[in-house]
Amino acid sequence: MERLDKILAGTGRWSRSEAKELIRAGRVRWAGEVVRRPETKVNREDIEVDGISLSAEKLVYILLHKPAGVVSATEDRREATVLSLLPPPWRDMDLFPVGRLDKDTEGLLLLTNDGELAHRLLSPRRHVDKVYLARVEGVPDQGDQEAFRRGVVLKDGTVCLPAELTLTEDPSECYVTLQEGKYHQVKRMLASRGKPVRYLRRERFGPLVLPPGLAPGEWRFLTEEEKTALFRSQP
Ligand code: URA
Repeated sequence: MERLDKILAGTGRWSRSEAKELIRAGRVRWAGEVVRRPETKVNREDIEVDGISLSAEKLVYILLHKPAGVVSATEDRREATVLSLLPPPWRDMDLFPVGRLDKDTEGLLLLTNDGELAHRLLSPRRHVDKVYLARVEGVPDQGDQEAFRRGVVLKDGTVCLPAELTLTEDPSECYVTLQEGKYHQVKRMLASRGKPVRYLRRERFGPLVLPPGLAPGEWRFLTEEEKTALFRSQP
């Protein structure tokens, strides 16, 4: 339970004082009853402003260029989290990262409070493509490509689904396309081929592409086109 005015301000649509005015004006209901005291403690689910449910309006989709050094979690006792990169109204909107990138991995991370979409995107049955740029020690070659195509066996015996490894002009770099998301998967796949990863960045997540102009640590809302593509990508 949280203060009603704080929840309203947390949506980013009203300042704290505007939220208080709305409440005092009798325009806000909780669990069907008008609430006139801004400090009333309520839960987020049953709030209506002018008869419109707040939860119907508050789905947020953010594309973050995750920098190295922050963890893909909503809370952490010791480390800075990806949510700490957002300004306060968005930090308080129950957003969470869809999947995880390691602390030292950079790149595209989707943050949302749409649990249903996240569930569908992360389901192992859905096979959402994820593309990573990896800089490695050694030179990835056709043997690695073939091994990835067949399905790499990790050092602990785990068998990975077939994946794509694309060579680039830079001999120490390659792109890896995966349809699953095991713990440290790209690093472990390349390590099993004797090519330890020195730098990793996620370039794509399903239909979403890391925008070239978005520096590490920067974020923006998904465009309408991106949202449509994301929802359409769901079989
Ligand atoms: N694979 C990894 O090894 N690390 C990541 O952060 C993502 C994929």
